[in-house]
Amino acid sequence: MPRDPELTAYLTRFAGQDEVLARVERETRLLPNAGMLSRPDQAALLTILARMLDAKTAVEVGTFTGYGAICIARGLADGGRLTCFEVSEEFAAIARRNLEAAGLTDRVDITLGPAVENLAQLPDTPHIDLAYVDADKTGYPAYYDALVPRLRPGGVLVLDNTLLANRVLAPEDERAKTMAALNERIAADDRVESVLLGLSDGVTLARRREP
Ligand SMILES: C[S@@+](CC[C@H](N)C(=O)[O-])C[C@H]1O[C@@H](n2cnc3c(N)ncnc32)[C@H](O)[C@@H]1O
Repeated sequence: MPRDPELTAYLTRFAGQDEVLARVERETRLLPNAGMLSRPDQAALLTILARMLDAKTAVEVGTFTGYGAICIARGLADGGRLTCFEVSEEFAAIARRNLEAAGLTDRVDITLGPAVENLAQLPDTPHIDLAYVDADKTGYPAYYDALVPRLRPGGVLVLDNTLLANRVLAPEDERAKTMAALNERIAADDRVESVLLGLSDGVTLARRREP
């Protein structure tokens, strides 16, 4: 969803964007799919969440050029690791370069391929502290089903674009219907406590309840 450029610039000032992230943003803006970039304020929230959760194990589904991955990786606890799932070889290569420039290659792996198949390879135990889902929208129900059982108690799943440009209010197309149904399912899911924030294009936080 487009946002007022003046407001975006103002919010970016308060998002702790350093030169590394500013360069990633500048270079990503030159790509045809620039609209997929996570917004600086939203990505900064990921750093803070990772720190609050003392995250040692984090997952990102949909990495693009690595802006969000850099922000998550920066918030990890000592020895923490972020596993990214990205289907595009081209974007994965750009993300790897950007993570290297940020000095974060020691703590981030990018797994190339369709996320749903690769998520199934993760250990079945509840071990994930923080997960960020920001990929193909019709895949969200499968990502949710794969990730919630793997969240440790108190772990948090963040889903981006859960408002889908407000189309969930009166869903007509398949993506909007899928997202609207998932929003209802999350709200009714006893395993998590959740909130759908009106930030960016809708950001849902789902926290795994203690047993
Ligand atoms: C909105 S962008 C991600 C933005 C990124 N999180 C950031 O911080 O800038 C969505 C990404 O998901 C990837 N993607 C789409 N379908 C996917 C799938 N089935 N598995 C893994 N990645 C996928 C796209 O190639 C794209 O890079």
